[in-house]
Amino acid sequence: MQNGEATTIVVMGASGDLMSRKLLPALFNLWLKGRMPDRFNIVGMSRSSFTDVEFRERMWPGVAGSSDAAAQRPHRWREFAARLRYCQGDLGSAEDMQRLRRSLEELEGGAERANRLFFLSIAPTLYGQAVAGLGSSGLASEGYGWRRVVIEKPFGWDLDSARELNREVHAVFDESQIYRIDHYLGKETVQNLLVFRFANAIFEPIWNRNFVDNVQITVAEKVGLGDRAGYYDGAGVVRDMIQNHLLQVLSIVAMEPPVSMDAESLRNKKAEVLQAVRRWTPSEAAIHAARGQYRGYRGEPGVPDGSTTSTYAALRLHVDNWRWQGVPFYLRSGKALAEKVSEVVIEFRRPPHHLFADGISRELNPNMLSILIEPDEGVHLDFEVKVPDRGMDMEPMSMEFHYESAFDGQTIPEAYQRLLQDALDGDASLFIRSDQIEEAWSIVDPLIAAWEDPYPDSPLHPYEPGSHGPEAADLLLAADGRKWLTAVNGVNSRR
Ligand code: BG6
Repeated sequence: MQNGEATTIVVMGASGDLMSRKLLPALFNLWLKGRMPDRFNIVGMSRSSFTDVEFRERMWPGVAGSSDAAAQRPHRWREFAARLRYCQGDLGSAEDMQRLRRSLEELEGGAERANRLFFLSIAPTLYGQAVAGLGSSGLASEGYGWRRVVIEKPFGWDLDSARELNREVHAVFDESQIYRIDHYLGKETVQNLLVFRFANAIFEPIWNRNFVDNVQITVAEKVGLGDRAGYYDGAGVVRDMIQNHLLQVLSIVAMEPPVSMDAESLRNKKAEVLQAVRRWTPSEAAIHAARGQYRGYRGEPGVPDGSTTSTYAALRLHVDNWRWQGVPFYLRSGKALAEKVSEVVIEFRRPPHHLFADGISRELNPNMLSILIEPDEGVHLDFEVKVPDRGMDMEPMSMEFHYESAFDGQTIPEAYQRLLQDALDGDASLFIRSDQIEEAWSIVDPLIAAWEDPYPDSPLHPYEPGSHGPEAADLLLAADGRKWLTAVNGVNSRR
């Protein structure tokens, strides 16, 4: 941390939800833990008009309601909030951006080095304009301190728009100054995937096509649309979840070991996985994917009648490289499902020969490794066990590690804490590089094209809220003789 230097965190779009519910609780927690620079200020900018005092008051309920226990400390909030300023302005107005610049200079008080972290918490359609404004106003010019910009998802709407946005952002910032956020990478359990794979020697030899039968990545949500129709109905599940969170998790699961954990080594290896994912044509999407929409979606506030937006997607991907040839990666994500669960399951191959077949009618269960991202963060490894006093009958049992019990109930920090700290420290390992963004779009673009201009074989399947999604998702795996797996409800449960 650059203690001693002045650092200003400027949040554009500060009157939105993200600021009060995620960014400020994260910054407040970092400060409580002594991880913020000594001399920092936070400046919120948006079009609404507030005084500094009104803005601080408006932010408190979101901070107090955050899930991080440390953030619920009102007596410390007052001290922290004294560093929080508000600047009313329109990022499209040159005059307002100049005013912001003057406010920052005043706050920084002629510090010898004054660093600035710009966080774009605005509508994605405004990213280009905001960055251009930071450039033309001189706010982004590196004088006596670093300048960085953090950009929320979605970064682009498809491959072409992502390329265009990359061009616009690169016109003002160098790639090393750009921090594209995917909050899944800030989750402790997603980072634990790296530790699990590369800090243990026993998994690497079996982490390949010789031992792994298939990989499944699930991000299921219990919540429905809420009040996000304006964004979500245009986006749908592929843009909202698959292009970013699920493909990022896939690239960590499938990547080659990097030579070191520095940002470029790590991101090179992740980018190679995305490059190796087989591309479909839109008409192949029908064979490799299934989609659904929960019943009642069209009645949600703001959703147009007859909307064909997918709220559920399941797909089969292939990673065409030496390690993974022939191993399908199944991805699924949806809203309004039975439970909230994010999980990676590795299903290993069955033993080549069933030694205990006599008198036992069922097949052996393959070993299954489940890495639970949330809830009940942890790892399960399932194996067959002899049932006592029943001949050679077997049952699958699970060896389990749970974060909560292992670390004595210690709270797992919210993803934004880690990500903001890394952005302040200049560590881009957990942020998405421009090539990764473009590769990810080129994987999902054909699917989006197929679903927006439906081929007859890509029907939108309705599913009941609170269910496990449409049957079509099960049929996708059944066609390969497989089932969806989850460790959430105990050993080897298959659905
Ligand atoms: C966001 C999506 O990126 O991730 C939301 O826009 C989704 O639609 C959310 O609900 C899920 O995140 P988490 O951390 O709750 O799994």
